[in-house]
Amino acid sequence: MILGIETSCDETAAALISEGGRIFANIVSSQADLHARYGGVVPEVASRRHLELVTPVVREALGMAGATLDDVELVGVTTGPGLIGALLVGLSAAKAIAWARRLPLAAVDHLDGHVASLYLEPAPLEPPFLCLLASGGHTLLLDVADRGAKPRLLGTTLDDAAGEAFDKGARLLGLGYPGGAAIDRLARDGDPEAYDFPVARVSGFDFSFSGLKTALLYAVRELEAAELELRRADLAASYQRAIVRALAERTREAAAATGARKLAVVGGVAANSELRRALPDAALAPLELCTDNAAMIASAARFTEAISYPGYLGLDAYASTA
Ligand code: KG4
Ligand code: ZN
Repeated sequence: MILGIETSCDETAAALISEGGRIFANIVSSQADLHARYGGVVPEVASRRHLELVTPVVREALGMAGATLDDVELVGVTTGPGLIGALLVGLSAAKAIAWARRLPLAAVDHLDGHVASLYLEPAPLEPPFLCLLASGGHTLLLDVADRGAKPRLLGTTLDDAAGEAFDKGARLLGLGYPGGAAIDRLARDGDPEAYDFPVARVSGFDFSFSGLKTALLYAVRELEAAELELRRADLAASYQRAIVRALAERTREAAAATGARKLAVVGGVAANSELRRALPDAALAPLELCTDNAAMIASAARFTEAISYPGYLGLDAYASTA
């Protein structure tokens, strides 16, 4: 079995999968409630919480899989990108487990993890495909040729990530943090054509969402409190429409340019119902594998060269891919 550990942001997660990609346990302990009162993730608070949760979460995963550490043959852990203090907690836990058992360790890139969520049972996707990765921290268009090779980067965001745009919009609408799912829900009762929110057209396959956020801010400012209450669903629906349109259009353009025959969407924003409708032919991981989890990290570990004992003890985490 492969043990995966993920602590790059505000989810403490552990999972056990088979070499073939069958999930035996996938435990995610979200800290969202802890950070909600601050309107976003507070890095130091996240690190401390990871420290409390990481061992119980690994234990729970083993319990659910009916396994012990004796069954683990490889440890896969996220080493970046993410919050550096948060990453170090997962990495230290992974090193300790691997070291104590003389196991190999695979250092997994969080973004490779999101893509590898598509390689799990029961419906693993076979490359090549064009992948939109849209999360709270990243918005990437990737040309995936092979499970083991680094995907080719076709486009990215010049400012905010798509999930970040959802979260900032939700904040302006008073929906709390994280707000993507809340906008998604509220938008169902609104008119997506009520407001014309512009999405900047940037060259190539890149994205830009910061202007959109400003447009929403101005629209909200113009409304009296009572009026805002009445228009909130329309604002949410129109705002979501603008983000989804940009994501879907750019994905289609990239697919046409590369001749990709298969499309896939991964990352937290892949949970968005309108995006799912806008790209009906795209492969999508199940909802619990879209947002941060450790099954995807264990999955990516299968295609990452493992470091044998004790070579990984000096391994470091990295905050960003630069
Ligand atoms: O992949 P993820 O769990 O964490 C990162 O690696 O960032 O993505 C979290 C992001 C958040 O910005 C959240 O608001 C967004 O995914 N999200 C959604 C939905 N569910 C989660 N955005 C739009 N619609 C949703 N239903
Ligand atoms: Zn993520």
